[in-house]
Amino acid sequence: MSEKPEHFIDENGIRLDGRRVDEIRPMKIEIGVLSRADGSCYLEWGNNKILAAVYGPRELHPRRLQRPNEAFVRYRYNMAAFSVEDRIRPGPSRRSTEISKVSGEAFEPVIMIQYYPGAVIDVMTEVLQADAGTRTAAINAATLALADAGIPMKGLVAACAVGKVDGQLVLDLNKPEDNYGDADLPIAMTQDGEITLLQMDGHLTPEEFKAALEMAKKGCEQIFEIQREALMSRYGDIEVVPVAEKEEKDSEESVDVLEEQGEKVENLDEEELTDEEIVEPEAESDSEDSEESTTNAETEEDEGEKDEQ
Ligand code: CDP
Repeated sequence: MSEKPEHFIDENGIRLDGRRVDEIRPMKIEIGVLSRADGSCYLEWGNNKILAAVYGPRELHPRRLQRPNEAFVRYRYNMAAFSVEDRIRPGPSRRSTEISKVSGEAFEPVIMIQYYPGAVIDVMTEVLQADAGTRTAAINAATLALADAGIPMKGLVAACAVGKVDGQLVLDLNKPEDNYGDADLPIAMTQDGEITLLQMDGHLTPEEFKAALEMAKKGCEQIFEIQREALMSRYGDIEVVPVAEKEEKDSEESVDVLEEQGEKVENLDEEELTDEEIVEPEAESDSEDSEESTTNAETEEDEGEKDEQ
């Protein structure tokens, strides 16, 4: 590890990597890089290199984990063994388990999970090269992989960290600032400015904390713009229909089709279905997925055991 620098910011307000205190590192994005995933994104942010893949929505196995009224968003943050200076032991660690949990929760207010009861949406993020700020970089990549997978969302999620070095707040910490700085405050937020992830290492005064939130908000606004541009360059020629309008249009269309067929259009809900109309899903042992579910269940138990060691 490099030694602690004497100063992080020079007399002109410029940081060691040439940025101003409120400037984020350059970000490069490519959407749809994996053909077997439902959605994917490769993102470089400074020297961080992240791959995000989304699989689903698909039926969740084992079934005991299913949520009857909504989908389960299963987020995985993983660092490749070769992503850091000292090789990382493969497999989940306490750190990656914690980051996976809080990062998944950062998407809760935006993903319309109510559309997919009993399903799982797998969001997998792989850190290929780490250089401070990997959890925030992974969230930025994951939101685009989710959009690429066509998962209905109320908006995007962006994330960046604010820290403190030489007594000053700085946006988007680089490695020396992260290692030797006085604070590290990763934050994720929705486009409405709702904070969905907030963690903190180190110390900030209440005033600094308030100012740090403002700085993070400005950082996230810049990232939303970069994400929007990346989506536009991939999907810009596709007409965007707001969800509410789409639902109205879809229901009008289905009414038209049924009326054409001479059918009476009624609001069917579950109580109105007769026993014959309720089709039981296939038994678990018959389905191909059940093998996978056993494997998943075993893996989860294994992971739990490993973590406890
Ligand atoms: O990456 P992030 O800032 O979200 O998380 P961190 O725990 O604050 O880690 C900061 C940086 O330390 C990472 O980005 C990696 O570059 C490095 N790191 C490492 O070298 N080995 C680890 N086991 C964990 C992190």
